[in-house]
Amino acid sequence: MSQLLARGGRRLEGEVAVQGAKNSVLPILAATLLTEDRVELRGCPRLRDVDASIRILKSLGCEARWEGDSLLVDTAGLKSWSISDILMREMRSSAIFLGAILARCCQADLSYPGGCELGPRPIDLHLAGLRGMGAEIRECGGALLCRASRLLGRDLVLSLPSVGATENLMLAACGAEGTTTIANAAREPEIVDLQSFLNACGGRVSGAGTSTISVEGGRPLHGCSYRIMPDRVVAATYLCAAAAAGGSVYLRNAREEHLSAVTAVLREAGCGIRPDAEGIACCCTGRLRAVRPVRTAPYPGFPTDAQAILMGALLRSQGATVFEETIFENRYRHVDEFVRMGANIRTAGRVAVVTGVERLQGAPVRCTDLRGGAALCVVALAAEGETEISEISHIDRGYEDIARDLRALGADISRRDP
Ligand code: EPZ
Repeated sequence: MSQLLARGGRRLEGEVAVQGAKNSVLPILAATLLTEDRVELRGCPRLRDVDASIRILKSLGCEARWEGDSLLVDTAGLKSWSISDILMREMRSSAIFLGAILARCCQADLSYPGGCELGPRPIDLHLAGLRGMGAEIRECGGALLCRASRLLGRDLVLSLPSVGATENLMLAACGAEGTTTIANAAREPEIVDLQSFLNACGGRVSGAGTSTISVEGGRPLHGCSYRIMPDRVVAATYLCAAAAAGGSVYLRNAREEHLSAVTAVLREAGCGIRPDAEGIACCCTGRLRAVRPVRTAPYPGFPTDAQAILMGALLRSQGATVFEETIFENRYRHVDEFVRMGANIRTAGRVAVVTGVERLQGAPVRCTDLRGGAALCVVALAAEGETEISEISHIDRGYEDIARDLRALGADISRRDP
């Protein structure tokens, strides 16, 4: 199994270009099913989850190939509406294909996506919305058998602002007769990127970024060439690495308006954050201060995906910080690994209290999930001595090459393949 080896104690200095956003490109890859024309996705990140999506598209009869950092997708050859259980289980968010397949084929057979390290990942809101649009969905033996001779535009209301449900219903609505509105929609920047992609293909989608999205269905969509937005969680990771280790870094392509909840906390902790037209500069000197309670929430609140990463940066801060994880049930699995490195953390249900310590020690640790793994890299750069990070396939799901990027910022970290 591959590992990362990191040696802490070095201030970071340097510049890195932030990769394309995983959580934008995954729904956009599903959206390519809505047109039979070719699509070029520029700045597409090379990730395990993108590879899994490509395997799903190819299993449906589509073509996909890389040209530099562009992924070219051609769905003209689509000949199936069924995704195998193995492919569904490879990636938790594979449910995002359901709405697009239904819109294209009027039927879809796929298995229930499994839960994941973060806890149960239900899709009841996805299914309720699709049923509201006229889909007949039978759930039997872990399989979802979906039929929709016609999808009808409807006024839908989500009981909570689910990112995946919002995206799935946007895609299904493109194939519906009439207009669909989605109220209490998620407002994440990745949803705005999906809207921009759909409109670049000739769609008529509006309201993304607000709580009410409107989709005019039945419009034939054509191909396009589209640049994926930069990954705000990857940007947050590298800002937190500079905060943890100290130093002065520049993140090219990062857009502060996408991660202002994170930069606000880092400023409160004592970091100097300066955005400009091309990216974000971050300068951190001296010991960080503990901050007011950090409560994760749907966008524009503090992103759950940055919870472990920020926690890692605050392990040596002066004082104590309270975290409350409101989105996922089981998103503190990284805490035990942080404690192995000398952190002082107490958890009780969805609350974690981090009391800053003077020093952290490198140790052999293992990734428990994608963002917990990235957070271990942040902590390793703030610890004394060497840290060996295993099970890094979790990190490869969402980071093209975290060691490469952190080395560009001056970190002593490398990948060791068996
Ligand atoms: C997306 O997951 C992201 N993944 C996650 O990023 C992110 O943490 C999450 O949104 C929240 O921002 C992608 O975009 C691929 P949700 P998603 O539906 O769509 C409950 C990462 O690290 N819920 O907004 O699955 C659910 O259980 C990943 O990049 C229902 O109850 O998130 C959770 O508690 C991790 N019923 C909450 O809503 C449903 O039908 C938020 O889930 C759907 C969701």
